[in-house]
Amino acid sequence: MRLQGKTALITGSARGIGLEFARAYIAEGAKVALADINADAVAKAAESLGPQAVAVQMDVTKQDSIDAGFAEAIGKLGKLDILVNNAALFSAAPIAEITRADYDKLFAVNVAGTLFCLQAAAKHMIARGEGGKIINMASQAGRRGESLVAVYCATKAAVISLTQSAGLNLIQHGINVNAIAPGVVDGEHWDGVDAFFAKYENKALGQKKREVGEAVPFGRMGTAADLTGMAVFLATKEADYVVAQTFGVDGGNWLA
Ligand SMILES: NC(=O)c1ccc[n+]([C@@H]2O[C@H](COP(=O)([O-])OP(=O)(O)OC[C@H]3O[C@@H](n4cnc5c(N)ncnc54)[C@H](O)[C@@H]3O)[C@@H](O)[C@H]2O)c1
Repeated sequence: MRLQGKTALITGSARGIGLEFARAYIAEGAKVALADINADAVAKAAESLGPQAVAVQMDVTKQDSIDAGFAEAIGKLGKLDILVNNAALFSAAPIAEITRADYDKLFAVNVAGTLFCLQAAAKHMIARGEGGKIINMASQAGRRGESLVAVYCATKAAVISLTQSAGLNLIQHGINVNAIAPGVVDGEHWDGVDAFFAKYENKALGQKKREVGEAVPFGRMGTAADLTGMAVFLATKEADYVVAQTFGVDGGNWLA
């Protein structure tokens, strides 16, 4: 068990990749606080994982909610060794149809949410003096622009940049900040993405999913479980010398 005695907080973990990471961390011996804006869903998710999981309602766009959520999680877990900044929203639109409201919403969750949760974890880890691991969820979308996905791509490019700056700033405290850049991961998130492309590219529902899956060099879309190996590794002592990096786990979609 590689995370025995460790504690983690994972944002946006009521479903999808965050929930799968919580399951993987618990399987490695950790205790996990699942934090999500959706109180009912996160309570059910934590219950499904058993006594090593606790649920925290947290909106990563609100500083009061971040402060209260971290205090509650640290109270329940006793300390915090690992943060996964996973909560995010997706949207798509041609440039001429992007709204300021949508831009503000995505940057509030994906960028400000990542930065200020990272800050809350870092303050606790610095005060404790025992280091820590912070893992940000970037995306292949942050490596290059996409015609219909300008805002989401820009938020994920910002996550890669924040990972570099925070990684360089916090390693003096023994805090490793790194990121994972998935490619296309099947689940409820991609059902939403598929619906956007159905609208803007005039495709049948499910068609875009099939196309992106077939285009992955590995031969299929990813699953949340395909990402857990990297998520566990980055949280272990074996990753102590890994600083400020973003790792593609994408079946070969992007060559860094
Ligand atoms: N699924 C993919 O193909 C894919 C690809 C690349 C990157 N990613 C990234 O991986 C991460 C997880 O993706 P997923 O597919 O599991 O997404 P998802 O949409 O299934 O889950 C996101 C979770 O975040 C929560 N959330 C939304 N706004 C929040 C807020 N303000 N505060 C707290 N929680 C909030 C939602 O309630 C939801 O439970 C995201 O950062 C996403 O951008 C996903």
